[in-house]
Amino acid sequence: MRIDLHMTPHQADEFALRDRTVVVVDVLRASTTIAAALHNGAREIIPVTSVERAVKISGSLFGDAILRGGERNGRMIEGFNLGNSPSEYTEEKVRGKAIIFSTTNGSLAIERARYARTMLVCGFVNITGVAETLVRTGGDFTVLCAGNNGLVSLEDSVCAGMLIRTVNELRDDDAALGDGAVAAVTLHKSFGKNIVRMVRTSDHGRYLAEIGFGDDLPLCAAVDGIPVVPHLVGNVIKLRSDGDRREQVPVSAA
Ligand code: MLT
Repeated sequence: MRIDLHMTPHQADEFALRDRTVVVVDVLRASTTIAAALHNGAREIIPVTSVERAVKISGSLFGDAILRGGERNGRMIEGFNLGNSPSEYTEEKVRGKAIIFSTTNGSLAIERARYARTMLVCGFVNITGVAETLVRTGGDFTVLCAGNNGLVSLEDSVCAGMLIRTVNELRDDDAALGDGAVAAVTLHKSFGKNIVRMVRTSDHGRYLAEIGFGDDLPLCAAVDGIPVVPHLVGNVIKLRSDGDRREQVPVSAA
C-alpha cells in the first residue's frame, strides 16, 4: 500500500486523482458537518462550489425536500437555511432532506476528487471508521486536505497524519509514504496529543472563535464522535453502509 497526500486542493490535479481512492479532510468544518448531517438522517449532501449553482439546482423543491447549507468566510450565506456549524444539522432539521452544500475550501477539495474511484470524507469525528474502510478495501490512497484559502492548515494535516497512523496500526504493517504523508505523520506526532488544544490554536480555529463559532471547535475535535463514513456516489455524498460504527466501541487511534 502507498499513501500520498496533498496539503491543499490547489496542488491537486483532478485528472491525476481519477480512478484513485481519495480521502478529503476538512476538519474545520466541512467534513464534520457532512458527517453530522448524514448521521442525523439527511438523505444526501450535494456538494457545489458556487452559491449561484446552489441556488440554481435547488429549484422548486427548495425548502421542502431540499435545503441549502454552507458558508463564506465562516458565516451562513444569504438565502441559505443552514450555515456550517455541525450542531445546526439536527435530526429535526435534516432528516430525509437533500442538502445542497457549498463551503469555501471543503467544496473545492471535494470537486477536485470528483473523478476518484472512491472518495471518502474524513475528520477527527469519523477517523477510525474511515481508516477501517481503507484497510478493508485495500489499495493505495491519496489524502486531499482542504487547507485554508490555499494555505496549509494544521488541523487538516494533523488529522491526515492520524489517519495514516491508524491505517498502519490496523494493518499491522507500514504503508509506503510519499513526502506529504511523512510530513503529516510528523505533524501528528508533534501536535496530536491534545487535539482540542491544537484545533483551538490553529489559524482557522482562532478565526472561528473570533466570529462566534468557538463552540464548534470541541465538536470538530472529538475523535470518533460521529462514527459514520460519508462517500461520493455519482454527484452526491451518502453514508457507506459498511462504514457504520455506531454499534462498535471506538478504538483509540492516538
Ligand atoms: C471550508 O470549507 O472552508 C470550511 O468548512 C470553512 C468553515 O466553515 O469553517
